[in-house]
Amino acid sequence: MEKQDLLVGIDLGTSRSAVVTNRGLRTMFESVVAYPKDLIGVRLLGATHVVGDAALDKAYLQLTYPLKDGVIQGRSEQERDAARKLLEHAIALAEPRPGDRVCAVIGVPANASKVNQDQVLEMALQMMDIAMVVSEPFMVAYGLDQLSDSIVVDIGAGTTDLCALKGRLPQSGDQVSLIKAGNFIDDLLCSSITARYPDIQMTTAIARHIKEQHAFVGQSSERIEVQLREKGKPVHVDVTSEVRTACEAIVPEMIEQLERLIQGFEPGSQAKAVGNIILAGGGSRIRGLGQMIADALRSYGDVKVNGVKDVIYTGAEGALKLANDLPPEYWDQIGVTEIGG
Ligand SMILES: Nc1ncnc2c1ncn2[C@@H]1O[C@H](COP(=O)(O)OP(=O)(O)OP(=O)(O)O)[C@@H](O)[C@H]1O
Ligand SMILES: [Mg+2]
Repeated sequence: MEKQDLLVGIDLGTSRSAVVTNRGLRTMFESVVAYPKDLIGVRLLGATHVVGDAALDKAYLQLTYPLKDGVIQGRSEQERDAARKLLEHAIALAEPRPGDRVCAVIGVPANASKVNQDQVLEMALQMMDIAMVVSEPFMVAYGLDQLSDSIVVDIGAGTTDLCALKGRLPQSGDQVSLIKAGNFIDDLLCSSITARYPDIQMTTAIARHIKEQHAFVGQSSERIEVQLREKGKPVHVDVTSEVRTACEAIVPEMIEQLERLIQGFEPGSQAKAVGNIILAGGGSRIRGLGQMIADALRSYGDVKVNGVKDVIYTGAEGALKLANDLPPEYWDQIGVTEIGG
């Protein structure tokens, strides 16, 4: 029987990962690997580890996010093992059939170091036939067919990745990864609410939840009031200014890098590029962000900032599209794996 190609697009995210295949499968999972804390945990779990959403809400498990800060946490063998399990999980979700030739395009943060890209590629090649590693914002641009005169800003949990598209594979100067992203906002929001209401019981998970409901920057006429707990009792508190300040904290560096990328385009392309700024990733849902960026860049011309429609799958769909467009035989010949290196 001739081998069939299973083409897979994988977006390996800090907080969640997405998997799509050429057989129409689309799925996502929390980028977490969990191990029982002790013998009781092994008994309760009935296994030595668990990957993905099934790991959440179980107090007897120790959670590991192998891609914390957007790169493989490869210092210890357990960290490398967790990253491997995450990738194995992604492949299993793609439902390969016996005899398939499994070919995956995997997105990693822009400017993940060459060492890190190689680590991902090496792991991938141990569990599939052909693999290619590309930068996440490039994947988004590829999926949207915006490979020229555009700038993608992918605001994830661990990193905000920016990439200038110039009609060629991005070089390292065309991309940058900032560590101020969703997790950074959560930490800031958590500490600022604690500073204003010292008796309120706060965690970063609660802060993240508040952010995902109410995130905004700039002016808003709405007041944000949430129910939290003070010494165990429910109370209602105003967190409007805390939410705004925490969300706005990621903006200045983003603007600074956008300006640098705009300046890096040929003069003839700059007007088009500022008119084609694309926001992706979960953080692109922050209300008012597009407007704030447009206002800050006004002196560069007619700025247009648009958000992608599907913040979860755009990256993985772009990876799949690349896999479809390029016969897998050529993947290791065109040097795409050198992106950002
Ligand atoms: N409505 C929302 N408003 C603001 N932030 C949101 C919203 N929904 C989700 N987020 C945040 O988006 C982030 C997750 O986005 P995404 O899934 O793109 O990240 P990721 O791909 O896992 O991370 P990375 O790209 O850094 O590896 C989280 O910080 C999450 O809290
Ligand atoms: Mg991402």
